[in-house]
Amino acid sequence: MSRRRSFVAGNWKMNLNRAGAVTLARAVREHAASCAGVDCAVFPPFVYLAEVAAALSGSRVRAGAQDVWTEKKGAFTGEVSAEMIRDCGASLVLVGHSERRHVLGEGDDLVARKLRAALDGGLEAILCIGEKLKEREGGSTEAVLGRQFRTAFKDLAPAEFPRVSIAYEPVWAIGTGRNATPAQAQEVHAFVRKLVAERFGPASAEGSRILYGGSVTPENAGELLAGPDVDGVLVGGASLDAAKFAGILDSDRR
Ligand code: 13P
Repeated sequence: MSRRRSFVAGNWKMNLNRAGAVTLARAVREHAASCAGVDCAVFPPFVYLAEVAAALSGSRVRAGAQDVWTEKKGAFTGEVSAEMIRDCGASLVLVGHSERRHVLGEGDDLVARKLRAALDGGLEAILCIGEKLKEREGGSTEAVLGRQFRTAFKDLAPAEFPRVSIAYEPVWAIGTGRNATPAQAQEVHAFVRKLVAERFGPASAEGSRILYGGSVTPENAGELLAGPDVDGVLVGGASLDAAKFAGILDSDRR
């Protein structure tokens, strides 16, 4: 089986200040220059997106937004459209991150509309899915992921799917220091790839990149990425530290 190019992304969440964001972007840019086998992106807060995108311009690192609104423009106070994100020099967006779902109360239908808006607006997307601890313990992990997956992709044309990556982020592993074991991650990634095959066909499943997120560190990234269906990582806390993020970029052994 040909391996997919791996993808290491940093979700900076609501952290850093303007100077810190640009400094971190420059450090990631410099390190990523020597990681030719790995695709890399960072997701700064909206207010720093244009400056970070400018700092990354012409480099191997892409800038992305952490969220997007469903409409192109209009009376949506506080929201940001896909067109605005592109205008800032970014080409990617996270959709359905667990903090949006569980802290901000976004449901599967809203996530689907955001994915639609992202693609219509010319962005690539990382769709985030993941189960809560209670759901895992209650044996409903696959049911939850299946529902999140099918709703998000209900209106997607197969030709659009290559512009979407999927991040499996178990809610119980995010910011907790309790990462999924490599075996747990691999098991779920294989299941997600099966969902892709059912919905979009085997070739799409083979080409699709499925990232793992949740307490990824330089210490555990290598073993997580060793899973045949783990094509990258979406890193929160450790992506705020240039040396740790560099360590994660270096831990891909493909
Ligand atoms: P942590 O790496 O801090 O657990 O966050 C993961 C995450 O939510 C990335 O999107």
